[in-house]
Amino acid sequence: MDDIKQIKNLIEKTIGVRCSNYKEEYIKRRLLSRMRSTGTGNYDEYTRYLNNNPDEWELLRNALTINVTEFFRDAEVFEVIRKEIIPKIISDHGRIRIWCAGCSSGEEPYSLAMILSELTTRKGGVIGTIYATDIDEKILQKAKDGIYDPKSMDKLGSTAIRRHFTELPDGRFQVKQHLKDMIHFRKHDLMSGLPGARYVDMVTCRNVTIYFTEQQKNDLARTFHTALNSGGFYVMGKTEYLGREVEGLFSQYNTLQKILIKNDV
Ligand SMILES: C[S@@+](CC[C@H](N)C(=O)[O-])C[C@H]1O[C@@H](n2cnc3c(N)ncnc32)[C@H](O)[C@@H]1O
Repeated sequence: MDDIKQIKNLIEKTIGVRCSNYKEEYIKRRLLSRMRSTGTGNYDEYTRYLNNNPDEWELLRNALTINVTEFFRDAEVFEVIRKEIIPKIISDHGRIRIWCAGCSSGEEPYSLAMILSELTTRKGGVIGTIYATDIDEKILQKAKDGIYDPKSMDKLGSTAIRRHFTELPDGRFQVKQHLKDMIHFRKHDLMSGLPGARYVDMVTCRNVTIYFTEQQKNDLARTFHTALNSGGFYVMGKTEYLGREVEGLFSQYNTLQKILIKNDV
């Protein structure tokens, strides 16, 4: 037996990652990378390795749902969000609801919460809620814990660190409660349609869809369109784009920063 279908079924059954949702080439590449690391030569050998080394499941899960992220990743996008988008939404509605989709270990929603908290301090009384979702339960737990190594906090100035983090005895930093209070972390597979998060004013879904098929990207754009309030914003990753089929659902707000605005259709 050296059949990719069988190992895909096994992955789905054991760790709940639905391989059928991803392009086959992508799954093959991730498996190959784990096979190289474990010194196994084919799917059969790798399956045996998984059976004998349960810890490998965790490594495989990480390889399949690559979680790379950072605070204020692509800083210019956050500047537009900070200076234009959030102030506009708050001036229109007096509050803001954000869905951060594919939030990984929490750096993106905490970056947004830092911006909201600064506006709250200056203006007083702003109510902001961030729904942060990801398919990967393990990474969501890391996000909820909100504990980070100092080297991952390079982009945060010392004032932001003092204001929003507590230093732990082991030298790492934990996010303070006032940021955590703004965020609801939830497990959600973006390919399964809408989560609880609806009537949001902004969706950020960045660096998540790179391995989705065209059809899946289109379905996702429709999901975001439904989730957004009229005039809401959809922030994509730098290398992501809107498929032809769904172009009419959004207009460009900032082409360079890949920020779209919902069209009422
Ligand atoms: C590269 S990280 C991006 C994190 C953050 N948005 C950023 O730009 O820094 C991609 C995240 O998308 C998540 N992801 C992948 N497929 C997903 C799916 N079908 N549903 C929800 N999250 C998914 C992964 O678990 C991972 O945490």
